[in-house]
Amino acid sequence: MSGQISPTVEKTIVLDKANRLLQDLRVSVIDRCNLRCPYCMPRESFGHAYKFLNPNEWLTFEEIETLVRTCVDLGVRKVRLTGGEPLLRPNLPDLIYSLKKIEGIEDLALTTNGILLAGLAGRLRESGLDRLTISLDSFDEDVFKKMSGGRGDLRDVLRAIDCAQKAGFFPLKINCVVQRGKNDHTILDMVKHFRNTGHILRFIEYMDVGNQNQWNFRYVVGSDEIISRIHKQYPLRLLERNYSSETSERYGFVDGSGEIGFVSSVTKAFCGFCTRLRLSADGKFYTCLFANQGLDMRPILRNRISSRSVKETIHKMWMVRNDHYSETRLRDSVGQIKTKKVEMFQIGG
Ligand code: GTP
Ligand code: 5AD
Ligand code: SF4
Ligand code: SF4
Repeated sequence: MSGQISPTVEKTIVLDKANRLLQDLRVSVIDRCNLRCPYCMPRESFGHAYKFLNPNEWLTFEEIETLVRTCVDLGVRKVRLTGGEPLLRPNLPDLIYSLKKIEGIEDLALTTNGILLAGLAGRLRESGLDRLTISLDSFDEDVFKKMSGGRGDLRDVLRAIDCAQKAGFFPLKINCVVQRGKNDHTILDMVKHFRNTGHILRFIEYMDVGNQNQWNFRYVVGSDEIISRIHKQYPLRLLERNYSSETSERYGFVDGSGEIGFVSSVTKAFCGFCTRLRLSADGKFYTCLFANQGLDMRPILRNRISSRSVKETIHKMWMVRNDHYSETRLRDSVGQIKTKKVEMFQIGG
């Protein structure tokens, strides 16, 4: 397949150094969040003194739309809006409405912590959002509080799940990050609650994203261990991945009570199939969740450079991409000084 941009062909196929297509785009619309999950934005580091982006540093909706359109021309089919907490971005439904009109996007989704979702679910649906993923780490109120850094009310998230379903989002995906000794004792409770609801619960291995969460392998509960704990009470069987770059391994309950997933970025890296590009709220493209720098698109967008140049810039960035962080993290972290990584809340996971 060609690595060159052809002026006569509108849709261009781009491959990176490891022959991976560009298919998914994750757009962070804001770096702020109303929670302080210690594995992402520990309170000690993100208190009042922390300087988040100024709203005038955010890409405008028009700029986001331009970049999304260009990425769609380069192969993107799935777009996911993230944060921080994306529902904190004013007028978000307007952005969804304009992205929904872009021909070529087959799936427009959003990941939220659910705190503000109950009042917004209907408008998000009407604007054209296809799917919603809600983060929820425990059903136990005390554990929830610890996992969200003392902020947020579990009841708001539970109400949001209800409202989202009523608004037509079904099935929902529910993301649960698991940390040993913190919430892993509430895993079965989560499973019990979501079986038979049709929603898809997914357990995510705790990752060493960013520079602030003091990550240590001893807090990781590997998916194999989680699966075996669940399997003892609720027998599971492996299902095929829906598509090769899917982050999550899928399992079904043998008794037919639904589907459950496991994102095993630490114990079973999936970089070989990674077709994801990330855009930060201030307009930087990151080719990996663990990248240490991004490509700033704002000068290009704000200097009225032609749309063809924007496309060439993204194309070139993807052609030199060679990220495989999750496959090498354990090997590289032994006795080495780690480079500074982008923070998870800046590129939305
Ligand atoms: P679907 O479109 O529903 O398959 O969503 P998704 O699984 O791509 O998105 P989601 O944001 O729910 O991803 C689940 C979790 O997997 C995220 O919270 C991240 O923690 C993690 N994750 C997503 N993409 C990547 C990735 O490219 N690399 C790594 N290491 N982890 C990822
Ligand atoms: N490890 C794994 N998942 C994480 N997320 C945030 N930080 C981490 C981490 N250190 C998840 C959130 C949410 C998604 C956006 O990323 O729980 O589901
Ligand atoms: Fe906010 Fe999500 Fe980070 Fe938690 S994981 S602090 S909800 S951005
Ligand atoms: Fe993709 Fe980087 Fe995650 Fe690997 S670590 S799957 S290359 S984002």
